[in-house]
Amino acid sequence: MAEQKATNITWHAGHVTRADRETRLGQKGCTVWLTGLSGSGKSTIAVAAEKQLVEGGALAYVLDGDNVRHGLNKNLGFSPEDRTENIRRIGEVAKLFTDAGVIVFTSFISPYRADRDAVRAVMAEGDFIEVYVSASLDTCESRDVKGLYAKARKGEIPEFTGISAPYEAPERPELVLDTNGQTVEESTRALVQYLHDKGYVGR
Ligand code: ADX
Repeated sequence: MAEQKATNITWHAGHVTRADRETRLGQKGCTVWLTGLSGSGKSTIAVAAEKQLVEGGALAYVLDGDNVRHGLNKNLGFSPEDRTENIRRIGEVAKLFTDAGVIVFTSFISPYRADRDAVRAVMAEGDFIEVYVSASLDTCESRDVKGLYAKARKGEIPEFTGISAPYEAPERPELVLDTNGQTVEESTRALVQYLHDKGYVGR
């Protein structure tokens, strides 16, 4: 839990409600929290799902690991403490987007169960959808899209998830996308279908 430093602050509600925004958008805001190893396919699935939804008339937005680390979280590294703070800040941003009525896809390794659970805890019931993008270390390492596993094996990247830092898989995710065997198209279809079936989009 981050420390509350500021005092004498009050929450100020506006005149437009979340329900007003959602009615206007014809969808229910939510945070689709993709978690998995580097190279498991989180970002690829996130951008593909975003595109499908937007083409279908919905409003969706991707918050991506590497991108957020260039700005909002540029002062954070990969120690357990920094990862926790990374996820906490992203969770708060995702919560604001969700309140704005947007379908948010977050694409972060988010290796610690406690950090993901903490994000779930700040969101309302049904707003947080945990999606485990499941691929074995072998699969991810053989893809090695960014060449980082090779570097990590050589000891050039300390605390690399899966090699020299842990990954804790979700125990009760809302959805599992097994990308060992599924194509990007299949995983994306399953994810978009879930959002339709549960009434987040297509209202
Ligand atoms: S998280 O653990 O805090 O959730 P995040 O998803 O933001 O990580 O960033 C992961 C991305 O940073 C990876 O896809 C990879 O490109 C890069 N990266 C650089 N160093 C590391 C590391 N030590 N462990 C994992 N990913 C790393």
